[in-house]
Amino acid sequence: MKTVKQVVFEVTNILNSANVAEAAANAEFIVCNLLGKSRTEILAFGSSVFPKEKEKILNSVIKQKIEGKPLEYIFNSASFLGRKFYVDERVLIPRSETEELVLKTQKKLKTTPKNILDLCTGSGCIGISLALNFPVAQVTCSDISAPALEVAKQNAATHKAKINFIESDLFNNLQGKFDLIISNPPYIKEDDIKTLSPEVKKEPRLAQIGGKEGTEIIEKIIQAAPKFLAPGGLLALEIGDKEGQKVLQFFSRDIWSNYILAHDFAGLERYIFAIKR
Ligand SMILES: C[S@@+](CC[C@H](N)C(=O)[O-])C[C@H]1O[C@@H](n2cnc3c(N)ncnc32)[C@H](O)[C@@H]1O
Repeated sequence: MKTVKQVVFEVTNILNSANVAEAAANAEFIVCNLLGKSRTEILAFGSSVFPKEKEKILNSVIKQKIEGKPLEYIFNSASFLGRKFYVDERVLIPRSETEELVLKTQKKLKTTPKNILDLCTGSGCIGISLALNFPVAQVTCSDISAPALEVAKQNAATHKAKINFIESDLFNNLQGKFDLIISNPPYIKEDDIKTLSPEVKKEPRLAQIGGKEGTEIIEKIIQAAPKFLAPGGLLALEIGDKEGQKVLQFFSRDIWSNYILAHDFAGLERYIFAIKR
């Protein structure tokens, strides 16, 4: 019979020997998820018995983690702005930078938006969060990937969010005007893909590659967005942290009354906010 504390210790050692980064934090995360308990509960009840029937699944999780599968895919769960979202290999795992995109966007809005578009929605984390925060808004979530949209629909159902889902290559199948277009599009340079960690390589390429330069999809969005934005509408984009100055050049003063770069919590130029004239 092993205690929860012993199991956390053993898993930490196994992960450490396999050169898995942040072994202790990962071990705690694994045990918390298997037992359905918070970190505080695990620490407070460390001397309680680890259920024998969970050992087989524990071993399988450790094996998958060592093989480079992200824990979010192993447990089919990622947290975004305090809510749980189902994730698997069909979608990108939501990132904290994108949580910040949503928070900064909400601050920029002068009035509650009536029509919101989450372009390149993936798991739906952005659009669903906004739909829940602005219950009167009509929210459209679109993506080129039908498998990603299946995941987003599942998340919308779980969170009881009313969303209009559209399969579309950027704006091709979209119509109407939006007060807010928000997007975390793919923005990694084609050649940089090989430098990604094994875990990040498990995420869909379609969600990552933004073209040879990394800015091709962003440029297309900035060019096409004005047609779909109401006057005074806001375009909010997450971008590659080294691309800010280049992306600013895609905007024209004739079309946009204002366009600015904003930094993420790490101080990197990560977002663009632009207002249509
Ligand atoms: C970086 S992921 C973002 C997912 C999610 N919004 C998030 O922040 O976690 C980019 C998403 O864009 C989608 N995508 C890639 N190319 C696209 C295109 N041409 N038109 C629409 N969606 C596209 C991918 O399928 C992927 O789901």
